[in-house]
Amino acid sequence: MTAFVPLSPSFGTLAQGLDLSAPLSDEAFAGLEAAFYRGGLLVVRGQRLTPARFHALACRIGRPEPHVIDQFHHPELADILVLSNVRRDGRPIGLADGGTYFHTDYSYLEQPARATMLHSITVPSKGGETLFADQRAAYDDLPEATKRRIDGLVVRHHYGNRDDLDTRSRTVASLLTDAQEQRLRWVRHPLVMAHPVTGRKALYAVSGSSFGIDGMPDDEGLALLDELKAHALQPKYRLAVAYGVGDVVIWDNLSMLHSATLTDPDDPRTLWRITVKPPGGLPR
Ligand code: SIN
Repeated sequence: MTAFVPLSPSFGTLAQGLDLSAPLSDEAFAGLEAAFYRGGLLVVRGQRLTPARFHALACRIGRPEPHVIDQFHHPELADILVLSNVRRDGRPIGLADGGTYFHTDYSYLEQPARATMLHSITVPSKGGETLFADQRAAYDDLPEATKRRIDGLVVRHHYGNRDDLDTRSRTVASLLTDAQEQRLRWVRHPLVMAHPVTGRKALYAVSGSSFGIDGMPDDEGLALLDELKAHALQPKYRLAVAYGVGDVVIWDNLSMLHSATLTDPDDPRTLWRITVKPPGGLPR
């Protein structure tokens, strides 16, 4: 019997009694999916998944799309991105310091991600949490005049962390090769998105890849994005998820901002990540 336990009053759910090492029944999957959309963030502790099993679960949630950083795709399944600070024979086995600033996945692509899933393989002795911020609650709490001002605005996005463009910094967006950079373009997304499944409105990607607002001078657009970001990252909207080995964490990229935390480069941390687009070719 699965129990869904809230992780905070407004978002995040711990699913207990689920075994993801075998395919879930339709009923169990429906329960998981409903809890995911309701809470925006789902945590399942202590699983031991093969790459194929992790991938099969992702395929039930949406269409996996491999990350542009292709040198760290999992050798068995390219849809899995290996996040890791571990080096073997002097070479990194995965992407270190990926996403160490608040952002939402694939907001720099024409079609943003629906969900991201992490599976923890090696857990550091200290730290290594992922931080989340509920952008639905942040939107709900805005004054009505602000909602009226921002509903309908369109934001320009590009791969990057607008708060840190220093390529030597650990909190810059992970560096791309020239070939990878050439695959990316400027894209536009609404500043406020109504969720295609729940209908609930949320601030979308006010931190990370957002660099300007259509119809506004650059400084004005950035000032508004910064104001919304400061509002959206207040402690009351945040939750930190700490990992044990085998945890599976799934979040809704249209409802959450998230950030990795900087961990000691000598304290091994490895996770597998799959990011999925909406199932069945839905527009978003
Ligand atoms: C990510 O942004 O996908 C990485 C999250 C993490 O490593 O905690």
